[in-house]
Amino acid sequence: MTVINTSPLHRSISDRSARITIWGAGFIGLSAATAFVQEGFRCSVVDVNASRVRCINAGTVPLPGFEDRVHLDPQALRDGRLRAVSPDDTDALDAQIHLICVNTERGGKAFRDPLQAVLKAIGSAHRADRELLVSIESTVSVRWLDLVLPLLTGATGVVGTGIHLATAPRRDWLLDPEMNLRSLPRVVGTLNPASQPLVTELYGTVSDVVHMTGDWTRAALSKSVENLYRYVDLVLTNQLAEAYPDLDMAEVFRLAGTKWNVPTLHPSIGIGGYCIPLSPHYAGDGLLGEGQLPLVDSALNWDATHSSRVAQWLTSKFDGPIGILGVSYAPDVLLPQGSPTLALAAALSARGADVRLHDPFLSTEEVIALGEGARALRWPEDLASVRTLVIATPHTAYAKLPDHLSALNDPPTVIDSLGRMRDVLAGTKVRYVEMGTPALWAEHDPALVNGTSGSDATR
Ligand SMILES: NC(=O)c1ccc[n+]([C@@H]2O[C@H](COP(=O)([O-])OP(=O)(O)OC[C@H]3O[C@@H](n4cnc5c(N)ncnc54)[C@H](O)[C@@H]3O)[C@@H](O)[C@H]2O)c1
Repeated sequence: MTVINTSPLHRSISDRSARITIWGAGFIGLSAATAFVQEGFRCSVVDVNASRVRCINAGTVPLPGFEDRVHLDPQALRDGRLRAVSPDDTDALDAQIHLICVNTERGGKAFRDPLQAVLKAIGSAHRADRELLVSIESTVSVRWLDLVLPLLTGATGVVGTGIHLATAPRRDWLLDPEMNLRSLPRVVGTLNPASQPLVTELYGTVSDVVHMTGDWTRAALSKSVENLYRYVDLVLTNQLAEAYPDLDMAEVFRLAGTKWNVPTLHPSIGIGGYCIPLSPHYAGDGLLGEGQLPLVDSALNWDATHSSRVAQWLTSKFDGPIGILGVSYAPDVLLPQGSPTLALAAALSARGADVRLHDPFLSTEEVIALGEGARALRWPEDLASVRTLVIATPHTAYAKLPDHLSALNDPPTVIDSLGRMRDVLAGTKVRYVEMGTPALWAEHDPALVNGTSGSDATR
């Protein structure tokens, strides 16, 4: 049976006359905006951050490291098909399609204030005689969805002729340009089944495959569940590495990963970012600590002390000062949120260690501001002044590390969190320890530490 949709909003999507307002000019909002503009829509990107707004309008991507990943079409900026504005912009508020891409994390915790502020703003401008589509692309707890309609409709509670509500979580992998909005299957759900044709048509313009579900709660939850699988696996990976200190667990994980349905994971100094470590808090909102997700509770409890244990091992086995390369949790971009480096630096500083941090995307002042007691390490000239060097983030900027270390008479011992420098450093004169291999965890391997085992990194 052919369904003829007569909704004016649906028709405006089909003929591209619909204006789209996108809330949040981070990677998610900007990449959505540029994709919809490319498909012929007019987009306003709203942000409370005035400097991001200014940068975008000047044609600059305001996200360090993302300059090549987001294409701001200069012509679209000139003719107003793409513009960045502040939240009080009346034209942006007046649009009938609103995509919410604001941050939902703060200080390592799920945080819903920006979402609530945006919903209130959209609601205050909504006219009950017009259709409205609000789609939440940010990662959310499904419990927050109960707040959406009351916040949109305010005290009146009047839903009007047609409020279409959707969740359309994002799953881009920003390190791989091939895994993007267009290529990755998009999970989308609506509150009301009647909204499905319109919402499917909208997202079908920018994503090749749209998996539409009849329930927006399911779509939202699928996002945190897919990340939760990964979180629990990664915690288990770190646990196994610690439980088998005498085995090369990095190789065990590589071997296990040769099975068709097992990913190859690597132990590390910690699980970073604002997606995977936050997933227990979104998926387990209201359930954690209640005995309903005991595996997740246990993983969270163990993981909360992981950086302290790593700090303890480092300070008991390796000399200080300790340098750490990479604050951003992902390479080649500036993403310090949920940085395992910062957690480790705090744990090392708490043990009295002399810690020095470097990240190519942060100035000395920014490193000191973030570093919780750590000092800044100047790259590459300060490499000689540390005795232990942790490679936390394999930024391309560190490609010459083997040359710099080889040029030193007595290079620091390298602790490689992810084993990315194994092939170039193992076997050189640099003392090299890959996390998850016996060298890091073994009690009796003085040859692999600087001088004596049991030395103190505070030295
Ligand atoms: N970055 C990713 O790869 C990725 C992947 C999947 C999901 N997500 C999720 O997408 C969401 C956005 O991620 P991001 O990386 O783009 O975040 P971000 O923090 O870089 O950007 C969010 C933007 O929202 C703005 N903002 C906050 N409150 C606002 C308000 N009231 N009005 C207008 N703007 C406001 C902030 O100033 C900021 O510029 C988060 O929920 C995140 O978990 C991100």
